[in-house]
Amino acid sequence: MIEVRHLNKTFHLKSGDVTALDDVSFKVEKGSVFGVIGYSGAGKSTLVRCLNLLEYPDSGEIRIGDGKAVVLRDGQATIDGRKMTGREQSAMRRGIGMIFQQFNLLDRLTVFDNIAYPLQHTGRNRKEIEKRVWELLELVALTDKANVFPSQLSGGQKQRVAIARALAANPPILLSDEATSALDPEATESILSLLKELNRKLGITIVLITHEMAVVKRIADRVAVMEDGRIVEEGNVYDIFSNPKAEISKRFVASSSLLGKMDSLIRENAELAEIREGEMLVRLVFEKECVGEHVLTSAAKETGIDLNLLLADAEYLQGRPLGGIVGILSGAPESVEKGMAYLQEHHVRCEVIRDGRVPQNGGA
Ligand SMILES: Nc1ncnc2c1ncn2[C@@H]1O[C@H](COP(=O)(O)OP(=O)(O)O)[C@@H](O)[C@H]1O
Ligand SMILES: [Mg+2]
Repeated sequence: MIEVRHLNKTFHLKSGDVTALDDVSFKVEKGSVFGVIGYSGAGKSTLVRCLNLLEYPDSGEIRIGDGKAVVLRDGQATIDGRKMTGREQSAMRRGIGMIFQQFNLLDRLTVFDNIAYPLQHTGRNRKEIEKRVWELLELVALTDKANVFPSQLSGGQKQRVAIARALAANPPILLSDEATSALDPEATESILSLLKELNRKLGITIVLITHEMAVVKRIADRVAVMEDGRIVEEGNVYDIFSNPKAEISKRFVASSSLLGKMDSLIRENAELAEIREGEMLVRLVFEKECVGEHVLTSAAKETGIDLNLLLADAEYLQGRPLGGIVGILSGAPESVEKGMAYLQEHHVRCEVIRDGRVPQNGGA
């Protein structure tokens, strides 16, 4: 549905060059929700602006839907080796709706007219436009606000109007650039569930740009993690959450789960993490369909280890359990070895946070 290959974009400033996109490649499947997460300045907004040619990448290739590949060369868009026409670029943009953090509504127009605005000059008559606007108002549950002005709406309601406007001409793709970043948690939840509903019911493909992992976790199928203009890690949301590889992904995961926060909790509560000689402080992560409690009980029985629970966290992600515990593992040396092997075999990933079996350097 969306395929991006080797996209590059550098801004030339007086103070020096800023590489906003550095060899960015990814694919978004039709009908999926693709998250792009990164801290401020990572290049996320540049990426969405490049996707619909609001900004021209210096080089690379973009293919949208069944369309031909748009090849960017020296900051120019070409198709089949010739310059892309203005008409072709407009057609490409019409297939991509966009929503932003700051809503971008026209304050002097009513909700109804804001949504009708992009439908003007599209060959539809008044009646058709009216019918479509009411459909859209219904879709975003704002039929009772048709005649009010944006200033009379809450942030969440404004974003609903923006979504209706973005979808007015039935684009198969919606790009969302920090659409929930200015909203309180309740409004954020309502907008995310609306986006998910639009994705499920209408099959709209969504590219979701955000700096919040909770947003990705809530509705994305896959996620790309961006840093300094590059995608440093990409994958299924569950896989990234259960086993982040890049340092920055680990930080994002930590920011949105108790399990990830355990390191800092342990650092802040030294007494929590105190272990005696021969003991180990471990983090056990339950992967895939593993039923944690059962495995722990049988591990204790079969191998003679003892596990003293300190912290636990569990949740459901993409319909699968994700969670783990931090605890103190103890027992005879050979039991501990056996116990750890047993856990690994039964899809419990065992990470040693502190190992009391070896002498600590420098002493505590
Ligand atoms: N129009 C521009 N002119 C110059 N530099 C820009 C422009 N747009 C973005 N940048 C720079 O590119 C980098 C990426 O910015 P941006 O894509 O907005 O990141 P993000 O959306 O992840 O916060 C930043 O260093 C930013 O300062
Ligand atoms: Mg941005």
